[in-house]
Amino acid sequence: MVYECHVDSNPVQGMLYTATLSERDGGALVVGLDPSAQSIEEVDANCQELYPKANKLLLFDARRNPHYVRPMTEGHARVAVAMNFYTDESPESARPADLSRHLFGRE
Ligand SMILES: [Fe+2]
Repeated sequence: MVYECHVDSNPVQGMLYTATLSERDGGALVVGLDPSAQSIEEVDANCQELYPKANKLLLFDARRNPHYVRPMTEGHARVAVAMNFYTDESPESARPADLSRHLFGRE
């Protein structure tokens, strides 16, 4: 699966990892520290790379920080459960209709 560079409409994104991966394995979550970044190149210029660690839950503001996942190296499967949390101020109804289809191939 390709998890392209994007921002979400929800204020909190959760990533629960079920395995530990290293730089050699790929699969890092890359979180842009510049909220105005709009491409992988712009995100990479000022970012935090986070490698999955089993049994760790990562939470961040998905509206503010553009993010994507680096490709996995051959022979490894992605090992994360993505969760989107909404609030009254940022309801799920505000999520772009095509975002899930774009990211996951489904509505
Ligand atoms: Fe996201």
